[in-house]
Amino acid sequence: MSGRTDNHFIPELGTGNPLETLRGKQIAVTKLHQPPAQVMARYCFRPWEPEDTEIYQRMLDDAELWRYMPEDYPGEITTELARTLIELSRQVSHHKVRAVEYQGRVIGQMRMQWKTDVTPPQSGEISYWLGREHWGLGLAAPMIALFSWRCFSIFPALSTIIARVHVENMASQRVLERAGWQRVRVDGDWQVFQMQRQDVIDWSSLNKPASLPG
Ligand SMILES: CC(C)(COP(=O)(O)OP(=O)(O)OC[C@H]1O[C@@H](n2cnc3c(N)ncnc32)[C@H](O)[C@@H]1OP(=O)(O)O)[C@@H](O)C(=O)NCCC(=O)NCCS
Repeated sequence: MSGRTDNHFIPELGTGNPLETLRGKQIAVTKLHQPPAQVMARYCFRPWEPEDTEIYQRMLDDAELWRYMPEDYPGEITTELARTLIELSRQVSHHKVRAVEYQGRVIGQMRMQWKTDVTPPQSGEISYWLGREHWGLGLAAPMIALFSWRCFSIFPALSTIIARVHVENMASQRVLERAGWQRVRVDGDWQVFQMQRQDVIDWSSLNKPASLPG
């Protein structure tokens, strides 16, 4: 695992006393079930760094990867554009973007976009991608489950996370179901899924290690 692990990774927060204080008010915090140590040890979520430019560019410069993403493929991802996107991802604003490492190798990205202006946030929307060489290995479901758990752990007021998946993106829909997400509605071309703080994740089905190519 990288030594640059996100310093917001606080596994114990939200897992202990179910009553916490928020701006002087007591709020009920549903007890979260900690993921198995083996699953946590395999993944690392950290900010993108300028040194990641080459791998970031290589993974994102793939029209097929963008096919079902909410944003259109911007065309060739040049080194300059990759640098700019990394820089934007590092800006602390309405979103939290993390490079994902699996057993020390960068495999993709998780992003959380806060849905409210309230601090601390109460709802958000995730999006994610894996570099194409990492598709089909079962890496996405534990990645999403861990990232969601981590957000609920860090933000005690966060109650709901949604994900919008293109109705034709069967792999992504399957991955969310495996990670314990519920379908809530269809919104045009998008199937909306949600995970709530109190939802129980079946970690036993997400505990299978994968071998990366190369
Ligand atoms: C979506 C994505 C994260 C999926 O990750 P993954 O780990 O490669 O997913 P897999 O290929 O292992 O597929 C997951 C499941 O979907 C199934 N699946 C894949 N393609 C399918 C299809 N066309 N129809 C039905 N099921 C399909 C797989 O068999 C697998 O099922 P299982 O869990 O029962 O074994 C990855 O493909 C990706 O990054 N895509 C590009 C970006 C993207 O679309 N992001 C999502 C935006 S919401």
